[in-house]
Amino acid sequence: MRSESDSPSEGLLPQPLADSVRDEEKRRRWISDLKTVAICVLLLSDLVALWYYSSTSLQFVKAPASTVSWTAAAVRAAEAAAMNSCSGHGSVFMDTVLVGSDGAQICECHECFTGPDCALLIPDCAVEADSGDPLLFEEYWMQHPDLGTVVIPGWYRMSYQTCDAGTLGDYCTDALKAAIQDLHGLTGNAVTKGRYIVLGTGSTQLVNAAVHSIALQQKEVSNVVASIPYYQAYRLQTQFFSSPNYQWAGDPERDSSSFEGSDAPVIELMASPNNPTATIQEVPSNASGVVVYDYAYYWPHLTPITKAVNADVMLFTLSKITGHAGSRIGWAIVKDLDLYYKMLNYIFFNTAGVSHDSQLRATHLIRTVVNSYTNPPTMSREKGIFHYGQEVLLARWERLQGIFSNSSRFSLQHIETKHCSFFGKKSPPSPGYAWIHCEHEEDTDCYALMLGANITGRAGSLFGSTDRHVRLSLLKRQSKFENLAAHLSALVSQG
Ligand SMILES: Cc1ncc(COP(=O)(O)O)c(C=O)c1O
Repeated sequence: MRSESDSPSEGLLPQPLADSVRDEEKRRRWISDLKTVAICVLLLSDLVALWYYSSTSLQFVKAPASTVSWTAAAVRAAEAAAMNSCSGHGSVFMDTVLVGSDGAQICECHECFTGPDCALLIPDCAVEADSGDPLLFEEYWMQHPDLGTVVIPGWYRMSYQTCDAGTLGDYCTDALKAAIQDLHGLTGNAVTKGRYIVLGTGSTQLVNAAVHSIALQQKEVSNVVASIPYYQAYRLQTQFFSSPNYQWAGDPERDSSSFEGSDAPVIELMASPNNPTATIQEVPSNASGVVVYDYAYYWPHLTPITKAVNADVMLFTLSKITGHAGSRIGWAIVKDLDLYYKMLNYIFFNTAGVSHDSQLRATHLIRTVVNSYTNPPTMSREKGIFHYGQEVLLARWERLQGIFSNSSRFSLQHIETKHCSFFGKKSPPSPGYAWIHCEHEEDTDCYALMLGANITGRAGSLFGSTDRHVRLSLLKRQSKFENLAAHLSALVSQG
């Protein structure tokens, strides 16, 4: 097997990684062709270098933008990969390593599709509706390839540091901080003025960064709590990172005197809108302890924006805004300088910052979102990502309501219609998840029931609730949603 370093220049040609599936004769011919191409490229690059150096005495000064074409090969590679539509059910990425017997890259197929160009639907394919992978946005970026594309030169921010002027050593580029502030300004969903921004490798990293740092401030062993049903990562992370400074204590059980009577300091984790229910939540104003508000879903396409939230500790993530979960970008907005430094310290010891490549991509994507809505907008408002996301999710919610409307066996959660200040009108429900309750007495395990119908959801007990509930993700690609809708219709029709 060849190593990466043997690969042809700029990834334009496929890598021979699947030697076993290729016959030896073809491989030898391919390598000899490759050598010829490589010799030609070398000769050509020598000629270009000769021309360049003879035309300037400043050998290491960058050529003026009008004469450089060093992005051309990268652009060709990106566009060559994108040329393959994979029947609309898969992708060829620039780094796709699957190659066919003809040496051409073959598609990475979406679930339930197969074949070299993903044209074949796998019959009776089970549907995975478990994770909140926000792939519904993929179509948006494919429809607007010019908006999301960014070029990263080889020398781009190689240092551990970002080194921006004015940076406090916080591993976040000034450009990304400004873009984040602009995005909150555009949507009116959160106050950022006079606040500190801590960047994280996804907000997943920031959940524990916040818990750890608040616990250090509280000085005694803190009880980490979350109201049932809670996003399961709160419990799993807190238990996994088991620390002498904090412990998982489950639901705050405000009605129970035992909890209120406890002297241990409290750190409350609260997602609003909630995952899994999509309800807006707020801790009572007289509750003790520090609350970490997780606003992963407080964006106009997922819930009506009713006010600019202004809590002490607030978490956000790029994942559910633009769908770029794989870039792993999240941020915390905090009021307290000491907490800010403690969280930065956590990020330093944990990952020594956040990928600069991801930051560049996030900055570009966020600027794109902002520019598409601001004056003069780069496109009609209706084509912006918040309109797109809301339209898709609204339609999905309506489909689910239709499916369950005549069912006495299953019920969907109720979500209120409220006025959204961003859209300037009422926003009907467009949640990322369906939180389904099994109504029949004998259906004690709603997750197992769904599994029997070839639907994988997420069991209610993972959210601290009972297995009479199951969560289904509505954030996936359209083909997956269609498959989910078909399986649910079949299940409901059984009575
Ligand atoms: C409530 C909530 N918070 C945080 C996250 C994690 O987001 P990230 O992709 O930024 O780690 C998720 C992901 O599903 C979530 O549902």
